[in-house]
Amino acid sequence: MNKQDLKKTLIICYSYHHNNTLKITNVIADTMNAKVITLEEINNVDLTEYDLIGFGSGIDSGKHYKPLLSLAKNLSQVSHKPSFIFSTSATQGKRKVDKDHSTLRSILTTKGYTIIAEFSCKGFNTNSFLKHFGGMNKGKPDVNDLKDAKAFANDLKAYLALQETL
Ligand SMILES: Cc1cc2nc3c(=O)[nH]c(=O)nc-3n(C[C@H](O)[C@H](O)[C@H](O)COP(=O)(O)O)c2cc1C
Repeated sequence: MNKQDLKKTLIICYSYHHNNTLKITNVIADTMNAKVITLEEINNVDLTEYDLIGFGSGIDSGKHYKPLLSLAKNLSQVSHKPSFIFSTSATQGKRKVDKDHSTLRSILTTKGYTIIAEFSCKGFNTNSFLKHFGGMNKGKPDVNDLKDAKAFANDLKAYLALQETL
């Protein structure tokens, strides 16, 4: 067994619009050998069994989806538990993503989670009037986004492996 497999990873994903975030979730989970759950399954898992927890969803009104934010608000207090957050959204940009992630980041930090990494990419969007025009970002996340997600997961694995040696 590789050292990084000693770390148990759980990913909590909420993806409904076009399953864009689920596609990213599945790549990260496959790469990290992580368990994936939906919001409804939260009561069936013991979070204390996991060393690293990922939280991902689409973005609505400049924040992660409300049900994921509500779940985060209801988490038990932890102490410096490693976590990562990710999203898919209509538009990207370092400052924009930083702001989009700020609400979830702030809730999790207050709960005692340490966010060690963040990832985001574009997702197909047919919200509102866009549905009449074929939507935006058709085909996203695409093969390159999935490659980026895999690289992100491999970097996380490398980081965890390094932690094991310290
Ligand atoms: C109701 C709604 C509101 C949205 N608001 C935003 C937004 O504020 N900013 C943004 O960049 N994308 C926004 N989007 C686009 C989604 O975040 C994007 O399509 C995402 O990839 C959907 O993820 P999912 O398929 O995993 O649910 C919105 C989409 C919907 C349906």
